[in-house]
Amino acid sequence: MQTILITGGAGFIAGAMAKRLALDPTNRIVIVDNLISGDKRNLPPNLHQNVVFLNADVNEEALIRPLFEAYSFDAVFHYAALVGVQRTLMNPVAVLRDIDGIRNILNLSVQFGVKRVFYSSSSEVYGEPVTVPQHEHTTPLNSRLPYAIVKNLGEAFLRSYQQEYGLNYTIFRFFNTYGPGQSVDFVMSRFLEMARNGKDITIYGDGQQTRTFCYIEDNIDVTIKIYKEGHFLNDVVNIGSDQEMTILSLAQKIVDVTGSSSKIIHLPALPEGDMTRRKPDIGKMISLMDRPLTSLDDGILQLIKSAQVCAE
Ligand SMILES: NC(=O)c1ccc[n+]([C@@H]2O[C@H](COP(=O)([O-])OP(=O)(O)OC[C@H]3O[C@@H](n4cnc5c(N)ncnc54)[C@H](O)[C@@H]3O)[C@@H](O)[C@H]2O)c1
Repeated sequence: MQTILITGGAGFIAGAMAKRLALDPTNRIVIVDNLISGDKRNLPPNLHQNVVFLNADVNEEALIRPLFEAYSFDAVFHYAALVGVQRTLMNPVAVLRDIDGIRNILNLSVQFGVKRVFYSSSSEVYGEPVTVPQHEHTTPLNSRLPYAIVKNLGEAFLRSYQQEYGLNYTIFRFFNTYGPGQSVDFVMSRFLEMARNGKDITIYGDGQQTRTFCYIEDNIDVTIKIYKEGHFLNDVVNIGSDQEMTILSLAQKIVDVTGSSSKIIHLPALPEGDMTRRKPDIGKMISLMDRPLTSLDDGILQLIKSAQVCAE
């Protein structure tokens, strides 16, 4: 039996991870989430017998210590974080409080003998890109905003705890990920929601900034494989897609696919936080995949289907 702690497990990515891991009855899953951006509907359905949920803030050590005392965790997925471009730009001090959560998770993991911590870092650590595609080991980290700096600092915590206390880790640098259950804080779900309701789709600036979009199943398949087979020990890996597109063309595609009457409206460019390009080097990730990544067209169709099922 493997006992696994998932922080942020009522969220989009960690919820999908929890659902997948809960399918294996030999896994015991403990989820902690304060529901700040998460939703109980992302938890494994009817909370399987092998799943426990605690509504708590990981930034408060006294609230999560009892979990480490009660369970002997083999692995910890630390995915809880304040997210969303607007929310993190508007609440920089709250973003910095996530440093407490990282420290809590690592101190408790050392103290209670966790075998490996998996940490959700972000493409944002690369900041405004110095090289394209962004490579885990050669692209300089140009993080400037609190959200990106906290992710970068989290990575430094993991390396330091490994060096001094021997705590093993794997860092996932997630690039834009999308799929069912994602909140409208993120561009793909927001555009789709606007298009489905015939509302204006708003874009910051000229829309020529680029992103890549990774379907959630691709993220979960590869991260679970890394966990189960023990790859990338004390290492960092980009998790994303390498199909780069502009935000304007994404908006146009969503309007076309949904047959929406929505208009695309340009707002003034954000003063900061909207990087010009994002494209990962995914050589390390792809070396573990035994199938092609989900195409954007297929991913969007699956997303639309799941939104229709939810609306029915
Ligand atoms: N979705 C993406 O494209 C993307 C890209 C890069 C990095 N990430 C990272 O992946 C992780 C998961 O993000 P997501 O997209 O699923 O977002 P999400 O908002 O769906 O999930 C985050 C979850 O963490 C919870 N949470 C936040 N602060 C908490 C706290 N202090 N204590 C307990 N729970 C807390 C939220 O309620 C939410 O359920 C985050 O660490 C995020 O920074 C996501």
